[in-house]
Amino acid sequence: MFRVICTKDYDGVSDVAFEVMKPYLKEGSVLGLATGSSPIGLYKRMIKDHTENGTSYKGIYTFNLDEYVGLPLEHSESYYTFMHKQLFDHIDIPEDHIHIPSGLGDLAKNAKDYDEAMEKMVVDIQVLGIGSDGHIGFNEPDTPFSQTTHVTELTEQTRTDNARFFDPLGEEVPHEAITMGPANIMKAKNILLVANGKNKAQAIHDMIKGPISEKCPASILQKHPSVTVVVDTEAASLLEPEDYEVR
Ligand code: GLP
Repeated sequence: MFRVICTKDYDGVSDVAFEVMKPYLKEGSVLGLATGSSPIGLYKRMIKDHTENGTSYKGIYTFNLDEYVGLPLEHSESYYTFMHKQLFDHIDIPEDHIHIPSGLGDLAKNAKDYDEAMEKMVVDIQVLGIGSDGHIGFNEPDTPFSQTTHVTELTEQTRTDNARFFDPLGEEVPHEAITMGPANIMKAKNILLVANGKNKAQAIHDMIKGPISEKCPASILQKHPSVTVVVDTEAASLLEPEDYEVR
């Protein structure tokens, strides 16, 4: 079940996303977190709330969706670095409460360990962005919906979309990633998907109104009981006005 909220711009998306997230920022909560530019505004608001209102993360646990294969943790574009820079370094979460799949060493074992760690806890709210090809996490088109944590080859479209981060370093986008599968994502009690900009409009349309198909990995969310989608007017541009609430 989707609740779709459309706001004027990216600041609006981040404000509404923070409102949705706020009730879960408490002792014992398990947050599923995402990388990419889409959730950065939400993370800024979480940091502000921690600094100004003293909201504590000491009793909160996190599970990230994915990581590139082969990047050392300290690489500026690893998702480990991204999460620390954008959120973890600015809040009081204990390091051992943070889970990020590892793209180094024995990948099959890392995937199995990640699934086992996830089986011990239930994610209360999973933050998602969406790829322009409809991917969630790094679950590219044609990933079986039953898939759990696994290693995946990135599509050319995803590598082109993410080249903006690696080009300035004179490096190639990695070819592979390790990611939670659709089956892990669907186990979260609630989903919060944020998207902005024209290049997400088709993926947002297909996720909400298209057939439930492995061609559009995000379309599996049509079967989830509690999904809030927060988009700006550009990302909502292929929806009908009756498909969303305006804020
Ligand atoms: C990456 C991440 C996804 C993210 C997507 C969109 O591929 N693995 O989790 O949703 O990019 O990124 P952005 O928010 O920068 O558009």
